[in-house]
Amino acid sequence: MYSGHMIDFNDYTVEDWTGLIKLASDIRLNQRDYIHRCEGRIMATLFYEPSTRTQMSFQAAMLRLGGQIIGFDNPVNSSVSKGETLHDTIKIVSGYSDVIVMRHPNEGAAKAASIYSQCPIVNAGDGGHLHPTQTLTDIFTLSDFKHRLTDLNIGFCGDLKNGRTVHSLIKAMSRFHGNKFFLISTPELTVPEYIKDVLELSACTFCEVNSIDECIDELDVLYMTRIQRERFASAEEYEKQSGVFILNTEKLKKAKDDLSILHPLPRVDEIEIAVDGDSRALYFKQAEYGMYARMALILKILNSELTIEKPVIPVLLDHFCGNPRCITHSEKYLPHNFKTDVAGKTACLYCDEKL
Ligand code: CP
Repeated sequence: MYSGHMIDFNDYTVEDWTGLIKLASDIRLNQRDYIHRCEGRIMATLFYEPSTRTQMSFQAAMLRLGGQIIGFDNPVNSSVSKGETLHDTIKIVSGYSDVIVMRHPNEGAAKAASIYSQCPIVNAGDGGHLHPTQTLTDIFTLSDFKHRLTDLNIGFCGDLKNGRTVHSLIKAMSRFHGNKFFLISTPELTVPEYIKDVLELSACTFCEVNSIDECIDELDVLYMTRIQRERFASAEEYEKQSGVFILNTEKLKKAKDDLSILHPLPRVDEIEIAVDGDSRALYFKQAEYGMYARMALILKILNSELTIEKPVIPVLLDHFCGNPRCITHSEKYLPHNFKTDVAGKTACLYCDEKL
Protein backbone atom coordinates (compact mmCIF):
# COMPACT_ATOMS: atom_id res chain seq x y z
CA MET A 1 0.00 0.00 0.00
CA TYR A 2 1.12 3.57 -0.70
CA SER A 3 2.40 5.56 2.30
CA GLY A 4 2.92 9.19 1.18
CA HIS A 5 -0.54 10.49 2.03
CA MET A 6 -1.48 13.98 3.26
CA ILE A 7 -3.77 13.21 6.19
CA ASP A 8 -2.37 15.51 8.89
CA PHE A 9 -0.14 18.46 7.93
CA ASN A 10 1.97 17.81 11.04
CA ASP A 11 3.03 14.40 9.71
CA TYR A 12 5.53 16.37 7.60
CA THR A 13 8.63 18.36 8.50
CA VAL A 14 8.86 22.14 8.56
CA GLU A 15 11.41 21.71 5.72
CA ASP A 16 8.69 19.96 3.67
CA TRP A 17 6.31 22.87 4.40
CA THR A 18 8.96 25.39 3.37
CA GLY A 19 9.54 23.48 0.13
CA LEU A 20 5.81 23.50 -0.61
CA ILE A 21 5.55 27.25 0.05
CA LYS A 22 8.58 27.95 -2.16
CA LEU A 23 7.10 25.88 -4.99
CA ALA A 24 3.62 27.46 -4.59
CA SER A 25 5.22 30.88 -4.75
CA ASP A 26 7.09 30.02 -7.95
CA ILE A 27 3.94 28.55 -9.52
CA ARG A 28 2.01 31.74 -8.69
CA LEU A 29 4.58 33.88 -10.46
CA ASN A 30 5.44 31.52 -13.36
CA GLN A 31 2.28 29.53 -14.10
CA ARG A 32 3.15 28.83 -17.72
CA ASP A 33 6.23 26.85 -16.66
CA TYR A 34 3.98 24.24 -15.05
CA ILE A 35 1.25 23.61 -17.65
CA HIS A 36 2.55 20.20 -18.77
CA ARG A 37 3.87 18.85 -15.45
CA CYS A 38 0.97 16.43 -14.81
CA GLU A 39 0.15 15.32 -18.35
CA GLY A 40 -1.15 11.74 -18.31
CA ARG A 41 -1.95 11.85 -14.57
CA ILE A 42 -5.46 11.55 -13.08
CA MET A 43 -6.74 13.01 -9.83
CA ALA A 44 -9.99 11.74 -8.28
CA THR A 45 -11.99 14.14 -6.09
CA LEU A 46 -14.37 12.26 -3.78
CA PHE A 47 -16.49 14.83 -1.94
CA TYR A 48 -18.94 13.21 0.48
CA GLU A 49 -19.61 16.70 1.90
CA PRO A 50 -20.21 20.06 0.13
CA SER A 51 -17.34 22.31 -0.92
CA THR A 52 -16.66 25.22 -3.24
CA ARG A 53 -13.04 26.28 -2.66
CA THR A 54 -11.31 23.01 -1.80
CA GLN A 55 -12.91 20.96 -4.53
CA MET A 56 -12.69 23.54 -7.30
CA SER A 57 -9.21 24.76 -6.39
CA PHE A 58 -7.94 21.16 -6.46
CA GLN A 59 -9.64 20.56 -9.80
CA ALA A 60 -8.35 23.84 -11.24
CA ALA A 61 -4.89 23.01 -9.88
CA MET A 62 -4.76 19.62 -11.65
CA LEU A 63 -6.15 21.06 -14.90
CA ARG A 64 -3.60 23.92 -14.81
CA LEU A 65 -0.86 21.30 -14.42
CA GLY A 66 -2.08 19.48 -17.55
CA GLY A 67 -3.65 16.55 -15.68
CA GLN A 68 -7.20 15.20 -15.74
CA ILE A 69 -9.90 14.80 -13.11
CA ILE A 70 -12.61 12.29 -12.23
CA GLY A 71 -14.84 11.94 -9.17
CA PHE A 72 -18.10 12.96 -7.51
CA ASP A 73 -19.22 16.05 -5.63
CA ASN A 74 -22.24 14.36 -4.09
CA PRO A 75 -22.14 10.72 -2.95
CA VAL A 76 -25.84 10.41 -3.85
CA ASN A 77 -24.73 10.28 -7.50
CA SER A 78 -22.32 7.42 -6.83
CA SER A 79 -22.68 3.82 -5.62
CA VAL A 80 -22.21 5.12 -2.07
CA SER A 81 -25.99 5.69 -2.25
CA LYS A 82 -26.41 1.92 -2.83
CA GLY A 83 -24.50 1.15 0.36
CA GLU A 84 -20.96 0.79 -0.97
CA THR A 85 -18.41 1.02 1.85
CA LEU A 86 -15.54 3.48 1.99
CA HIS A 87 -13.23 0.45 1.80
CA ASP A 88 -14.65 -0.67 -1.56
CA THR A 89 -14.93 2.82 -3.04
CA ILE A 90 -11.28 3.54 -2.24
CA LYS A 91 -10.12 0.13 -3.54
CA ILE A 92 -11.85 0.84 -6.86
CA VAL A 93 -11.04 4.54 -7.33
CA SER A 94 -7.38 4.15 -6.31
CA GLY A 95 -7.06 1.71 -9.22
CA TYR A 96 -8.34 4.41 -11.59
CA SER A 97 -6.33 7.40 -10.40
CA ASP A 98 -2.88 8.62 -9.34
CA VAL A 99 -4.07 10.62 -6.34
CA ILE A 100 -7.37 10.82 -4.44
CA VAL A 101 -8.56 14.04 -2.79
CA MET A 102 -11.30 13.20 -0.30
CA ARG A 103 -13.68 15.15 1.94
CA HIS A 104 -15.93 13.27 4.34
CA PRO A 105 -18.28 14.25 7.21
CA ASN A 106 -16.79 11.66 9.58
CA GLU A 107 -13.65 12.32 11.59
CA GLY A 108 -10.73 10.11 10.65
CA ALA A 109 -12.22 9.13 7.26
CA ALA A 110 -9.11 10.10 5.29
CA LYS A 111 -6.91 8.04 7.60
CA ALA A 112 -9.25 5.08 7.14
CA ALA A 113 -9.16 5.50 3.35
CA SER A 114 -5.36 5.54 3.40
CA ILE A 115 -5.30 1.99 4.83
CA TYR A 116 -6.93 0.61 1.68
CA SER A 117 -5.64 2.91 -1.07
CA GLN A 118 -3.11 2.00 -3.75
CA CYS A 119 -2.46 5.72 -4.39
CA PRO A 120 -1.91 8.77 -2.18
CA ILE A 121 -4.91 10.10 -0.25
CA VAL A 122 -5.21 13.83 0.42
CA ASN A 123 -7.45 14.81 3.32
CA ALA A 124 -9.68 17.64 2.04
CA GLY A 125 -11.46 17.86 5.42
CA ASP A 126 -12.66 15.05 7.72
CA GLY A 127 -15.63 16.20 9.79
CA GLY A 128 -14.58 18.66 12.50
CA HIS A 129 -11.12 17.10 12.73
CA LEU A 130 -8.46 18.35 10.27
CA HIS A 131 -8.08 20.24 6.99
CA PRO A 132 -4.37 20.07 6.10
CA THR A 133 -4.55 21.63 2.62
CA GLN A 134 -6.33 24.67 4.08
CA THR A 135 -3.37 24.94 6.47
CA LEU A 136 -0.95 24.85 3.56
CA THR A 137 -3.03 27.63 1.97
CA ASP A 138 -3.00 29.62 5.22
CA ILE A 139 0.74 29.39 5.87
CA PHE A 140 1.51 30.19 2.22
CA THR A 141 -0.68 33.31 2.48
CA LEU A 142 0.88 34.31 5.80
CA SER A 143 4.44 33.80 4.64
CA ASP A 144 3.73 35.93 1.54
CA PHE A 145 2.00 38.79 3.36
CA LYS A 146 3.74 38.75 6.76
CA HIS A 147 7.12 37.42 5.53
CA ARG A 148 7.45 35.26 8.63
CA LEU A 149 5.71 32.42 10.46
CA THR A 150 7.31 33.14 13.85
CA ASP A 151 6.68 35.69 16.62
CA LEU A 152 3.08 36.32 15.61
CA ASN A 153 0.12 37.08 17.86
CA ILE A 154 -2.64 35.03 16.24
CA GLY A 155 -6.31 35.29 17.17
CA PHE A 156 -8.62 32.40 16.27
CA CYS A 157 -12.27 33.39 16.52
CA GLY A 158 -15.57 31.51 16.22
CA ASP A 159 -16.29 27.80 16.26
CA LEU A 160 -13.00 26.54 17.65
CA LYS A 161 -14.56 23.22 18.66
CA ASN A 162 -15.74 22.11 15.22
CA GLY A 163 -13.50 24.23 13.01
CA ARG A 164 -11.10 21.75 11.38
CA THR A 165 -9.16 24.58 9.71
CA VAL A 166 -8.48 26.00 13.19
CA HIS A 167 -7.23 22.67 14.55
CA SER A 168 -4.86 22.08 11.63
CA LEU A 169 -3.51 25.64 11.66
CA ILE A 170 -2.93 25.74 15.44
CA LYS A 171 -1.03 22.45 15.20
CA ALA A 172 1.14 23.87 12.42
CA MET A 173 1.79 27.34 13.88
CA SER A 174 2.68 25.87 17.29
CA ARG A 175 5.82 24.46 15.62
CA PHE A 176 7.20 27.96 15.01
CA HIS A 177 8.82 29.81 17.90
CA GLY A 178 7.40 32.92 19.48
CA ASN A 179 3.82 32.56 18.32
CA LYS A 180 1.08 33.46 20.82
CA PHE A 181 -2.49 32.22 20.39
CA PHE A 182 -5.61 34.08 21.46
CA LEU A 183 -8.53 31.63 21.36
CA ILE A 184 -11.72 33.68 21.04
CA SER A 185 -14.90 31.63 21.50
CA THR A 186 -17.89 30.96 23.71
CA PRO A 187 -17.25 28.43 26.53
CA GLU A 188 -19.22 25.81 24.53
CA LEU A 189 -17.05 26.14 21.41
CA THR A 190 -13.48 26.05 22.75
CA VAL A 191 -10.79 23.93 21.05
CA PRO A 192 -10.80 20.14 21.71
CA GLU A 193 -8.61 18.70 24.44
CA TYR A 194 -6.07 17.23 22.01
CA ILE A 195 -5.41 20.68 20.55
CA LYS A 196 -4.85 22.10 24.05
CA ASP A 197 -2.39 19.24 24.64
CA VAL A 198 -0.51 20.27 21.48
CA LEU A 199 -0.38 23.89 22.66
CA GLU A 200 0.71 22.98 26.17
CA LEU A 201 3.54 20.81 24.84
CA SER A 202 4.74 23.48 22.41
CA ALA A 203 6.97 26.42 23.20
CA CYS A 204 4.06 28.75 22.41
CA THR A 205 1.72 30.50 24.83
CA PHE A 206 -2.05 30.73 24.55
CA CYS A 207 -5.01 32.28 26.34
CA GLU A 208 -8.78 31.83 26.02
CA VAL A 209 -10.91 34.98 25.76
CA ASN A 210 -14.58 35.58 24.99
CA SER A 211 -14.55 38.75 22.90
CA ILE A 212 -12.64 40.15 19.93
CA ASP A 213 -12.38 43.54 21.70
CA GLU A 214 -10.30 42.02 24.50
CA CYS A 215 -7.31 41.32 22.25
CA ILE A 216 -7.71 42.88 18.78
CA ASP A 217 -5.14 45.61 19.47
CA GLU A 218 -2.46 42.94 20.15
CA LEU A 219 -3.04 40.79 17.08
CA ASP A 220 -0.85 40.38 13.98
CA VAL A 221 -3.27 37.84 12.48
CA LEU A 222 -7.00 37.39 13.05
CA TYR A 223 -8.36 34.07 11.78
CA MET A 224 -12.15 34.31 11.67
CA THR A 225 -14.33 31.21 11.25
CA ARG A 226 -18.04 30.56 10.85
CA ILE A 227 -20.13 28.67 13.37
CA GLN A 228 -20.40 25.21 11.77
CA ARG A 229 -24.17 24.74 11.56
CA GLU A 230 -23.81 21.20 10.15
CA ARG A 231 -21.96 19.96 13.27
CA PHE A 232 -24.75 20.86 15.76
CA ALA A 233 -27.27 18.31 17.01
CA SER A 234 -30.23 20.73 16.61
CA ALA A 235 -31.14 24.08 15.06
CA GLU A 236 -31.78 25.46 18.58
CA GLU A 237 -28.23 24.64 19.71
CA TYR A 238 -26.82 26.32 16.59
CA GLU A 239 -28.95 29.46 17.08
CA LYS A 240 -27.58 29.86 20.64
CA GLN A 241 -24.05 30.13 19.21
CA SER A 242 -24.60 32.04 15.97
CA GLY A 243 -24.09 35.80 15.65
CA VAL A 244 -21.95 36.07 18.82
CA PHE A 245 -18.72 37.18 17.10
CA ILE A 246 -18.99 39.68 14.24
CA LEU A 247 -15.99 41.56 12.87
CA ASN A 248 -16.89 45.04 11.62
CA THR A 249 -15.12 48.27 10.68
CA GLU A 250 -15.73 49.71 14.16
CA LYS A 251 -13.84 46.86 15.87
CA LEU A 252 -10.99 47.19 13.37
CA LYS A 253 -10.32 50.79 14.45
CA LYS A 254 -8.39 49.38 17.44
CA ALA A 255 -6.38 46.88 15.33
CA LYS A 256 -2.80 47.19 14.10
CA ASP A 257 -2.27 48.76 10.64
CA ASP A 258 -0.56 45.57 9.47
CA LEU A 259 -3.10 43.09 10.87
CA SER A 260 -3.81 40.19 8.46
CA ILE A 261 -7.45 39.10 8.49
CA LEU A 262 -7.83 35.53 7.28
CA HIS A 263 -10.92 33.32 6.93
CA PRO A 264 -11.01 29.88 5.30
CA LEU A 265 -14.50 30.76 3.96
CA PRO A 266 -17.40 30.28 3.41
CA ARG A 267 -18.49 33.23 5.52
CA VAL A 268 -21.98 33.52 6.99
CA ASP A 269 -22.26 36.72 9.06
CA GLU A 270 -19.05 36.76 11.11
CA ILE A 271 -17.31 39.37 8.91
CA GLU A 272 -19.40 42.29 7.72
CA ILE A 273 -19.14 42.90 3.97
CA ALA A 274 -17.89 46.45 4.67
CA VAL A 275 -14.64 44.89 5.98
CA ASP A 276 -13.87 43.45 2.51
CA GLY A 277 -12.63 46.86 1.33
CA ASP A 278 -10.07 47.10 4.16
CA SER A 279 -6.53 46.43 2.89
CA ARG A 280 -6.02 44.12 5.90
CA ALA A 281 -8.76 41.73 4.67
CA LEU A 282 -6.86 38.94 2.89
CA TYR A 283 -9.47 36.18 2.72
CA PHE A 284 -10.26 36.37 -0.99
CA LYS A 285 -6.55 36.50 -1.84
CA GLN A 286 -6.11 33.55 0.57
CA ALA A 287 -8.66 31.51 -1.42
CA GLU A 288 -6.77 32.25 -4.65
CA TYR A 289 -3.49 31.27 -3.01
CA GLY A 290 -5.15 27.94 -2.18
CA MET A 291 -5.02 26.94 -5.84
CA TYR A 292 -1.26 27.57 -6.13
CA ALA A 293 -0.70 25.77 -2.82
CA ARG A 294 -2.62 22.75 -4.11
CA MET A 295 -0.71 22.77 -7.42
CA ALA A 296 2.48 22.56 -5.37
CA LEU A 297 1.07 19.76 -3.22
CA ILE A 298 -0.07 17.70 -6.22
CA LEU A 299 3.39 18.00 -7.80
CA LYS A 300 5.23 17.06 -4.61
CA ILE A 301 2.93 14.11 -3.92
CA LEU A 302 3.02 12.73 -7.45
CA ASN A 303 6.82 13.07 -7.51
CA SER A 304 7.03 11.30 -4.09
CA GLU A 305 8.88 14.28 -2.61
CA LEU A 306 7.08 14.27 0.75
CA THR A 307 8.20 11.96 3.55
CA ILE A 308 6.23 11.32 6.74
CA GLU A 309 8.50 12.43 9.60
CA LYS A 310 7.68 9.74 12.18
CA PRO A 311 5.27 7.07 10.92
CA VAL A 312 2.84 6.03 13.69
CA ILE A 313 2.72 2.34 14.60
CA PRO A 314 -0.94 1.48 15.28
CA VAL A 315 -1.96 -0.60 18.28
CA LEU A 316 -5.04 -2.81 17.89
CA LEU A 317 -7.21 -2.67 21.03
CA ASP A 318 -10.50 -4.25 22.03
CA HIS A 319 -12.13 -0.82 22.51
CA PHE A 320 -14.46 1.41 20.53
CA CYS A 321 -13.49 5.04 19.95
CA GLY A 322 -15.70 7.20 22.19
CA ASN A 323 -16.23 9.89 19.52
CA PRO A 324 -19.66 9.28 17.91
CA ARG A 325 -18.50 11.17 14.80
CA CYS A 326 -15.45 8.93 14.31
CA ILE A 327 -15.38 6.99 11.04
CA THR A 328 -15.09 3.70 12.99
CA HIS A 329 -18.77 4.03 13.97
CA SER A 330 -20.08 4.22 10.40
CA GLU A 331 -17.52 1.92 8.71
CA LYS A 332 -17.70 -0.92 11.22
CA TYR A 333 -15.14 -3.25 9.59
CA LEU A 334 -12.29 -0.82 10.38
CA PRO A 335 -9.67 -2.18 12.80
CA HIS A 336 -9.87 -0.51 16.24
CA ASN A 337 -6.48 1.13 15.87
CA PHE A 338 -5.05 3.40 18.56
CA LYS A 339 -1.78 5.28 19.02
CA THR A 340 0.22 7.12 21.67
CA ASP A 341 -0.37 10.81 20.99
CA VAL A 342 1.92 13.82 21.54
CA ALA A 343 0.86 14.01 25.20
CA GLY A 344 1.70 10.33 25.75
CA LYS A 345 -2.00 9.42 25.97
CA THR A 346 -3.71 6.60 24.10
CA ALA A 347 -5.85 8.08 21.33
CA CYS A 348 -7.87 6.89 18.34
CA LEU A 349 -5.58 6.52 15.30
CA TYR A 350 -8.30 7.94 13.06
CA CYS A 351 -9.82 10.91 14.90
CA ASP A 352 -7.41 11.64 17.82
CA GLU A 353 -10.12 11.15 20.50
CA LYS A 354 -8.53 10.03 23.79
CA LEU A 355 -9.36 6.51 24.92
N1 CP B 1 -12.21 26.59 3.06
C1 CP B 1 -12.96 25.56 2.63
O1 CP B 1 -12.71 24.41 2.97
O2 CP B 1 -13.99 25.91 1.81
P1 CP B 1 -14.97 24.89 1.09
O3 CP B 1 -15.79 24.22 2.17
O4 CP B 1 -15.81 25.72 0.16
O5 CP B 1 -14.13 23.88 0.38
